[in-house]
Amino acid sequence: MELINQTYQIQGLEVTELASKYQTPVYVYDGEKILSQVKLLQEAFSSVNLKIKYATKALSNINILKLLKKAGSGIDAVSIEEVKLGMYAGFEPSDIMYTPNCVSFEEIQEAVSLGVMINIDNIPMLEHFGNSYGNTVPICIRLNPHIMAGGNAKISVGHIDSKFGISILQLKNILSVVEQYNLNVIGLHVHTGSDILEAEVFLKGAKILFDAAREFNDLKFLDFGGGFKVAYKEGDIATDIMDIGKKVSAAFVEFCKVYGRDLELWFEPGKFLVSESGYLLVKANVIKSTPVSTFVGVDSGLNHLIRPMMYDAYHGVVNVSNTTGDQHIYSVVGYICETDTIATDRKMNDVKEGDTIAIKNAGAYGFSMSSNYNSRLRPPEVLILGGKDYLIRERETFDDILKNQVDIGI
Ligand code: LLP
Repeated sequence: MELINQTYQIQGLEVTELASKYQTPVYVYDGEKILSQVKLLQEAFSSVNLKIKYATKALSNINILKLLKKAGSGIDAVSIEEVKLGMYAGFEPSDIMYTPNCVSFEEIQEAVSLGVMINIDNIPMLEHFGNSYGNTVPICIRLNPHIMAGGNAKISVGHIDSKFGISILQLKNILSVVEQYNLNVIGLHVHTGSDILEAEVFLKGAKILFDAAREFNDLKFLDFGGGFKVAYKEGDIATDIMDIGKKVSAAFVEFCKVYGRDLELWFEPGKFLVSESGYLLVKANVIKSTPVSTFVGVDSGLNHLIRPMMYDAYHGVVNVSNTTGDQHIYSVVGYICETDTIATDRKMNDVKEGDTIAIKNAGAYGFSMSSNYNSRLRPPEVLILGGKDYLIRERETFDDILKNQVDIGI
C-alpha cells in the first residue's frame, strides 16, 4: 500500500474504493508483493538448489496457492485437508510435503495413498511407518534441534520441551528404527520458530541438520523450516534475507562437498511470503472517548484477526480515509464481546465514523485463523493482481452460521 497523491493505493487501486466496492470488513492481498517476496528468496539462495515449500497454513485460499505454484513454489501442509487443498489448487503430490503433528496414523496413511511425502515427527509414528511401508515409501524426519528462538513463547517450537519433532538427543533411537525397518530417509527437517531475525539461528539449525545428516546415506534434501521475521512496526528490522541466504548457502555448499552429493535446500516460509501482502480493511463504527483513551470501535475483531490477542502481536493501523488531517492517539478495538484490542495508543489521522482503517500485515495467519465467534460472518478475500481486483472468497452469509447446526425441533 502506497500513499500516492494523497490517496492510499495498492497497485494503482484506491484502497477506499476497494472498501466501498467490497464493503468492510474485507481482506485484501497484494499478489505482486507475494511474487516479489518469492523472487527475493530465490535470489538470496541462487547459489544452491533451493526449493520453496510455502507454509499453507499462513494463508490457504486456493488462488494464493495457485499464484505461488506459478511462481515455482511447492507447499508444506499440516493437515490432510491442506494436502487436499494443495492438490485441488494444482500441486502435484510430489510438490507437497506433509508435516503433521499428533495426527492419527490413518491420516498419514491417507496422505501416503495420495502420493505425498510425510515428515515424521515422533518415534512411535516412525515405527508404525516402518511396519506398514518398510522402505517402499521415502520419508523425511523432523528433528527437534533444541534451539530456543522465535518472536514469543507460543511460536517458539524448536526448544527442548516442545511437542514438535524428534529430539536430536534421540538420534540413536531414530537410527535404530531406521535400520530395523530399512527405512528410506531422503530428507531431514528442522523448524525452530516464527519471527526469527538472526542468520545465526538458521546456521545453528544448519549445523544440527549437517551433523545428523552424516548418519544417513540417501538424503536428497535438508529442510530448514520457516520463520523469517518480517517487519510489523514502522522501523522494525526484518530478516536480512540476503545475509541469511549468503551465510546459509555457503555452509550448505560446504556440507554438500563433505556429503559427496548435491542436496536440495528447502525452506517453508509462511509470513515471509504473505504477511506484508495483506490488509484487513475495517470501518470505524464508533469513536468513543473515555477519561483515559479514545477508542475507535471497528466492524471486526478477534474473530477476524486473532494475532493481537493471541500473541500480543503488533499490527500497523492506518486511517486510509483521511490522509491530511491532524493526528491523534487512538486505540483500535473490535466489536466482539471481549476486550479485543487490535492496536493500543497509535497515532492516526483524525478518525470519523465511517472511515476505513487498514490493518497491516494481515496476509499471514489472518483469515486462516479467523472464526465465527459471536456468530459473526467471516469476511471476503480480494486479490489484486496485474492492477486488477478479484474476489477470491465471498463474504459469509447468515446461512453459513446455521449450516451444520441440527434443529432437533424442541
Ligand atoms: N514450517 C513449520 C513446520 C511450521 O510449523 C511453520 C509455522 C512454518 C513452517 C512457517 O512459519 P513462518 O514462516 O510463517 O513463521 N500463528 C502464528 C505463527 C505460527 C506458526 C506455526 N508454524 C502467528 O501468527 O504468529
